[in-house]
Amino acid sequence: MDNATQLESIGDLHWSQEALVALVGLVRKVHGLNLFPFNATFLAKTLDKRASASMETAAAYGERLAKDFSEAEALLQSLHIGYSEFFRNSLAFALLERLILPGLLEAKEKSGRGEIRVWSAGCATGQEAWSLAILLDDLNRTRETSIPYRIIATDWFAPDLAVARTGLYSEEAVGNVRMSHLRRYFYRRQGSFFIAHRLMDRVDFTVYDLLDESTVCPPESIFGNFDLVFCSNVLIYYRPEMQALILGKVRRCLASGGYLVTDETEGRIVEGAGGFRRAALPAAIFVKDGNSSNE
Ligand SMILES: C[S@@+](CC[C@H](N)C(=O)[O-])C[C@H]1O[C@@H](n2cnc3c(N)ncnc32)[C@H](O)[C@@H]1O
Repeated sequence: MDNATQLESIGDLHWSQEALVALVGLVRKVHGLNLFPFNATFLAKTLDKRASASMETAAAYGERLAKDFSEAEALLQSLHIGYSEFFRNSLAFALLERLILPGLLEAKEKSGRGEIRVWSAGCATGQEAWSLAILLDDLNRTRETSIPYRIIATDWFAPDLAVARTGLYSEEAVGNVRMSHLRRYFYRRQGSFFIAHRLMDRVDFTVYDLLDESTVCPPESIFGNFDLVFCSNVLIYYRPEMQALILGKVRRCLASGGYLVTDETEGRIVEGAGGFRRAALPAAIFVKDGNSSNE
């Protein structure tokens, strides 16, 4: 990307690419905090929001940030977006329910061995992992099969994983869950909804940093070999090098013929990275290209 395009990519925001590079370097040098991995537009928007919340110009905010460690920490916290929903992307989940998961169940049934292995990468407070557990359990029930499945759900933000493990959600949080699933897979207590015990054994929530270059797959998964990886609403926050790092890991953790699901806004990132081909347009569902599981 040339400089003119980089400047343009920051759009109406009050930060040029050069100013951002200088700020990222300064925050690292003075405070030891790393803003480098984040996508420039996302970083500039977050800086603008914090500056306008304290009614400062971008320049004044930048100067304060360089001196004020607690503001630098607060900025880093603002860059953590932990929002999630059950069945968040309705099109992707519909295609999974009707096409992808039945195909996986059938293949495992035919082979007569093995379990379905799923990784929810960047799972936040767990809704994505529980949604997949609900679909797999329900498909097993309607098909009268009992193909085992295991879901490894990871995030680097431990407080959100603690919420995910409780399996406890508000009435508002389960708004997207269809009534039959709500009845079968939740129980209600004092106005809140708890995930049913039978799903609890199927999902492991564990801390894992997707930017950790010393590992390929989450250590708890031992060897990866996943049939399906969800990495949704994560890539969008990172700069291209980090997106490539994450996608490289995901690819190596996928079994041959395994699927990757991202948010639709991230589909172009996956296409650009290579190593995957679209499996179910228009949703951002991809299948690993190539034959070997560790290519
Ligand atoms: C916006 S949430 C998306 C949650 C869920 N995947 C969804 O689509 O609803 C993004 C999540 O990715 C996590 N995340 C971001 N960078 C990460 C990293 N380097 N390693 C692990 N998790 C990360 C964040 O902590 C956050 O919980």
